[in-house]
Amino acid sequence: MARAIADAVGDSAKSIDCPLEEKTDILFLGCSYYAFDMDEAVKKFIAENKQNIGKIVCFGTSAMMRSMKRPMSKVAEEYGVSLAEEEFHCRGAFGPMHKGRPNDKDLEKVADFAKKIINMSGSV
Ligand SMILES: Cc1cc2nc3c(=O)[nH]c(=O)nc-3n(C[C@H](O)[C@H](O)[C@H](O)COP(=O)(O)O)c2cc1C
Repeated sequence: MARAIADAVGDSAKSIDCPLEEKTDILFLGCSYYAFDMDEAVKKFIAENKQNIGKIVCFGTSAMMRSMKRPMSKVAEEYGVSLAEEEFHCRGAFGPMHKGRPNDKDLEKVADFAKKIINMSGSV
């Protein structure tokens, strides 16, 4: 999904293992649900890179949940980082559930979503 977004907006996808080296106006940040919460590694990334995050636009997958907004808002508020209202969330494979997701259609949708965000921001 990160690569589909990066291709759509003309940038490159990076792992959260890489620190943000410069201020990023819009950060498409991928995160999925694990045990009814967001990934601890993503929380740590936000905490350690908050000074370089303009606004987070969240995308992700889960087996049952429909949005990452609740845990993500909590963390964004805790570290004083702005979080966009818009997010992209779809089903992700989990054991026998949702096999093949995210699929090509999901990747098309997330790419369209990213383009809309960039167009709305006037960055392109
Ligand atoms: C250990 C574990 C815990 C999970 N807990 C949840 C959960 O609480 N709610 C949910 O909707 N999905 C849950 N899932 C499903 C994941 O959110 C889903 O498989 C997602 O697509 C994983 O993304 P990833 O492949 O990028 O890790 C869990 C998956 C794993 C492996």
